[in-house]
Amino acid sequence: MTLKYRTVLFFMLILHCSCVLGRRQGDPDEWACGNECSLSIAETIPDGMTPSTFSTTFQSWSDLITLATETIEIASYYWTLRDYDTPNHPHPTSNQGDEILDGLLAAARNGIQIRIVKHIDTDSFPNVDIGELQAVGADVRDVNFTRLLNAGILHTKMWVVDRKHVYLGSSNLDWRALTQVKELGLVAKNCPCIARDMAKTFDVYWELGTEVAQIPEEWPVEYESPFNEDVPVSVTSDGISYSAFVSSAPPELCPNGRTTDLDAIFHVMDDAKKFIHIAVMDYFPLIMFDPPLRYWGDLDNTLRNAALRGVSVKLLMAKWSNTRSSAHAFLSSLRSMTEAYDNVDIQVKMYVVPADEDQALIPFSRVNHNKYVVTDVSTHIGTSNWSGDYFIASGGVGFVAKPANRTGGEGADLRMQVASVFERDWNSEYSLTLEEVFPDEYPTPLKCTASSNAISSAISFMFLVHAMY
Ligand SMILES: *[C@@H]1O[C@H](CO)[C@@H](O)[C@H](O)[C@H]1NC(C)=O
Ligand SMILES: *[C@@H]1O[C@H](CO)[C@@H](O)[C@H](O)[C@H]1NC(C)=O
Ligand SMILES: *[C@@H]1O[C@H](CO)[C@@H](O)[C@H](O)[C@H]1NC(C)=O
Repeated sequence: MTLKYRTVLFFMLILHCSCVLGRRQGDPDEWACGNECSLSIAETIPDGMTPSTFSTTFQSWSDLITLATETIEIASYYWTLRDYDTPNHPHPTSNQGDEILDGLLAAARNGIQIRIVKHIDTDSFPNVDIGELQAVGADVRDVNFTRLLNAGILHTKMWVVDRKHVYLGSSNLDWRALTQVKELGLVAKNCPCIARDMAKTFDVYWELGTEVAQIPEEWPVEYESPFNEDVPVSVTSDGISYSAFVSSAPPELCPNGRTTDLDAIFHVMDDAKKFIHIAVMDYFPLIMFDPPLRYWGDLDNTLRNAALRGVSVKLLMAKWSNTRSSAHAFLSSLRSMTEAYDNVDIQVKMYVVPADEDQALIPFSRVNHNKYVVTDVSTHIGTSNWSGDYFIASGGVGFVAKPANRTGGEGADLRMQVASVFERDWNSEYSLTLEEVFPDEYPTPLKCTASSNAISSAISFMFLVHAMY
């Protein structure tokens, strides 16, 4: 070993130690979750479909507002809780959005500090909500990803209340996310260890939400996360202990100690022994919004490798009026691996939210918008579509939970809750095979047509014979 090499190693060791020490700083009680923590999922099931057996997004957000005593901090892509953009607005199902916005306005009037950070490009939305919130004293900041990273958007959907309770999931601050779009999120109540860590990501957005902000070369120590895939936090909810951590995208917005959202998903998939079940709005192994269009195989490769080691894979992507037709090529390519070896099993379906004539008129709705992966070991609940752009350039967050020890309670742990949602949806009438979604790609084989012709000729002949008598 040369001297130079040894010196480098020495400094690396020092750095490593100071990082580990840095992670342990502060009053440990501030980070403790105790046994009060409650973790569960919340869902929005679109109007007219069988309601969820879990808490609704509306109920969870209402609870969060009620619980607030000091602060409500929300990071969001955009805001349209009031319905100003549907034909003949307001739509009868938009009142829940009004109730949430009214709840936030009332909280602000009662002295609760409201801080909002959102994506800057909101020209397409009237932004009525933001004006109303500012009028009652809410602080609002906008993050310009184009200026900071040359691409991307702030696509996060996250609430932090009193730095003790949180929501993280697919629901935008949009009335449709409460009644017309299918959504899934995590709700954690009385979990300061998780909320405080998630708030560090809120603080990152807040820091970047000024016109002169720059992404620092190295984030200051107060933004560093004590928890990550190597050092998860241990929390107990309803007698079940979990190891958990919060992830964030893109990498530039991850201070030291923060696992990137992509690494978090790799971590969950690599840990799987038996199955990987994924539900996402969009699955495109591409970088599609930052030309030139190019292949991005990071998640695709991980899925194919998992399948090759015998883990069974089910992918449920959304199908709605705006789904790109190129989806078929990528999905059928992934699925075709199944033919390679006996132990390889990759199945793909597409979920279609039904819509009647009136519902079909509501723009940006009636779609399966949830984004999660659940395995036999753990789960990742996120906010990002599965295409490269979201992990490389856009702001998103995720929550990973791995149930460990059970000391009591019969209830389903968080992983089981997510797994049951997947089972319900996969086996429902709304999940269609590629053959059903893209019939033109699977023309009926000639042989079959011939024989059905033969059958119908035989039937006509029988009728003819019958009529003759
Ligand atoms: C965001 O930043 C880009 C690049 O600096 C700029 O062209 C654009 O106008 C900014 N967007 C807004 C809404 O200010
Ligand atoms: C589960 O229990 C074992 C043995 O009691 C302990 O070492 C481990 O830390 C526990 N795991 C969690 C996540 O609490
Ligand atoms: C991803 O999700 C958003 C909504 O969250 C949607 O509008 C968009 O079309 C999706 N697909 C891609 C490939 O970005």
